[in-house]
Amino acid sequence: MTLNSDLSLDAVRDAIEATEATPLLIDARDRGLTGISGLKTVGLLQRLARAAEGHDSCYLEIGVFQGLTLVSSALAAPTLPCFGIDNFRILDPEGTNKSIVDQRLNDFATTNAHLINMDFEDALAGLLAQTDDQKVSVYFVDGPHDYRSQLVCLLAAKPLLAPGAVIVIDDANYPAVRQATYDFLTSHPDFALMFEAYTDAHPANLDAATLAAAENGWLNGVNVIVHDPAHWVDRTLPPVSEDRTLYFNDWLVHRLALAELAPQALALAHAVVDGADAKAESTALKAAYTSLAPTAEARSRDRNTYSAGLTSGHLANIKAAG
Ligand SMILES: C[S@@+](CC[C@H](N)C(=O)[O-])C[C@H]1O[C@@H](n2cnc3c(N)ncnc32)[C@H](O)[C@@H]1O
Repeated sequence: MTLNSDLSLDAVRDAIEATEATPLLIDARDRGLTGISGLKTVGLLQRLARAAEGHDSCYLEIGVFQGLTLVSSALAAPTLPCFGIDNFRILDPEGTNKSIVDQRLNDFATTNAHLINMDFEDALAGLLAQTDDQKVSVYFVDGPHDYRSQLVCLLAAKPLLAPGAVIVIDDANYPAVRQATYDFLTSHPDFALMFEAYTDAHPANLDAATLAAAENGWLNGVNVIVHDPAHWVDRTLPPVSEDRTLYFNDWLVHRLALAELAPQALALAHAVVDGADAKAESTALKAAYTSLAPTAEARSRDRNTYSAGLTSGHLANIKAAG
């Protein structure tokens, strides 16, 4: 079927089927192009980017890391402008990821690829100025995986998408990622889930043989969404849990004085329930508290609202008619 769109649904389906048969379109691993995406994810992005060439649009990704998916997509579609957003705030203990990306963009001569070194929300807010007003036909979401970030990645990008855009969402094994896809799809009926694939666990928790298969596949799961206002694609939703306790818990945790210490506090809790010597976890918690202390001491123990100084009543103005 031919739609008034940058990418036809047939082109997206063909790209998925070709990727399932042969993961990579262009293999640059022997030239050192590695990263933390599955081979099928990389290959699908390459094929979608190639299919988008010549449509006056661009490729966009959130989560560049060391440049595997950005450079691979740009190599596969040399005439397609490709943009990658990353602020290099995590997964970068040596602080070298940005220079690795710069080096790779240079080594692979991908002059159509551009790094936007910013937080993703700030970058999305001003994206069209960076892309010369070109809208996004292929959008890869692989940045922060908390529920809100995943949902904002979809909501904030929606006005930036070209008709018929395709969205590839990595790490769909995580329930918060699937929940954000689910919530976006149920509130945006013009979009459809075209493909989903999962493994039984995160790659860190797989045995060696299953891990090897995942690395050659979709690694930590994938959701692929297409813009389908004509409803050609049968509507399905990614599986989510009926138990929403973890999302309700956000409110219970966020309002606590020591909310930022939740990861360290839970590591300590784990050691305690295991009956292990919890010294290391206790030391880590106290160390993390040291930098939070000045902020935390100014807070209440619980029910912090951060609403001091907000208006006691503001009624919006209504412009006079005519
Ligand atoms: C899993 S890595 C991306 C992997 C990459 N696509 C590849 O192929 O190897 C996730 C990236 O998201 C970036 N990230 C996390 N939070 C971010 C934010 N708020 N804004 C921009 N980038 C962010 C991290 O710095 C990290 O490099």
